[in-house]
Amino acid sequence: MTHFLSIEELSKESLWKLIDNAAALKNERKHGEHQEKPLTGQTWAMIFTKASTRTRVSFEVGIRELGGSVMFLSSNDIQLGRGEPIKDTARVLGRMVHGAVIRTFNQQDVIDFADYSGIPTINALTDDAHPCQILADLLTIRERLGTWDGKKIAFVGDGFNNMSRSWMWAAKRLGFELSIAAPKSCLPPQAYIDALSADNVSITTDATEAVKNADVINTDVWLSMGQEDQSEKEALFGDYQVNAELLKHAQSAHIVLHCLPAYRGKEITENVLEGHADVIFQQAENRLHAQKAVLAKLASYGQTFREMLT
Ligand code: CP
Ligand code: NVA
Repeated sequence: MTHFLSIEELSKESLWKLIDNAAALKNERKHGEHQEKPLTGQTWAMIFTKASTRTRVSFEVGIRELGGSVMFLSSNDIQLGRGEPIKDTARVLGRMVHGAVIRTFNQQDVIDFADYSGIPTINALTDDAHPCQILADLLTIRERLGTWDGKKIAFVGDGFNNMSRSWMWAAKRLGFELSIAAPKSCLPPQAYIDALSADNVSITTDATEAVKNADVINTDVWLSMGQEDQSEKEALFGDYQVNAELLKHAQSAHIVLHCLPAYRGKEITENVLEGHADVIFQQAENRLHAQKAVLAKLASYGQTFREMLT
């Protein structure tokens, strides 16, 4: 593994190993500093063209706790924001830093950055994928339910945003049952479903059907970053709120996940969010541990690449 750009690119074995290592790093952190600091001597750049709380903080803390230095580069402050191409930005940074964490709009930009820079590149969210979040969510499910094997996971909301797409690929790789409920115009297109080709993933416009007997109920904002001017889209989601009534159809021992930030009264009610706050904020914390596992995995490639250049 030289980059971490999507769940789709990972094997089942790589996913398992990352989650195992995230759990080990979480346990080690409880007892003090990490024994091994694989990012020692490395500098990582974080290039963000969208807002972030969890991702930014967890990566900055994680890189430092693994021995590295980190620089946060808002796209507004670097020439990228004035139109310098990603491939030029990549070739400059690739000669100076050991790895990059990128949050942006187009998936192709993180792919191009990885190709042109040559340094390990991590997708910190694009319009297509949010792989770091999925790792944290899987770790949370394992901590709370013991396993995802044999569980039913429901996703209620925008069926074709970065989170629902990443969940589809996680289900494809790991084999758990995934049911996505979304308004008709927010369902994944048939071509995407065909390319996914996963019998364990079902798509419906009926939120009750998706949540029926589910062990995990997942939701996300109705309007993702970059869609703020599409407020008319919100009107489609009236039947897709995660509320107490909907949760009556789930398994009695269900958990609710939300990647956050949450909009109470829209995709989730105040009562449901606060009633499941323990797990939702555990999920947020797990971003740190999951991303450390990714950073540790990519660290040696970053070092080797820098040595090749010098
Ligand atoms: N869940 C998540 O990625 O949160 P931020 O947008 O705050 O980073
Ligand atoms: N789908 C959301 C996820 C936020 C973490 C967005 O892209 O805004």
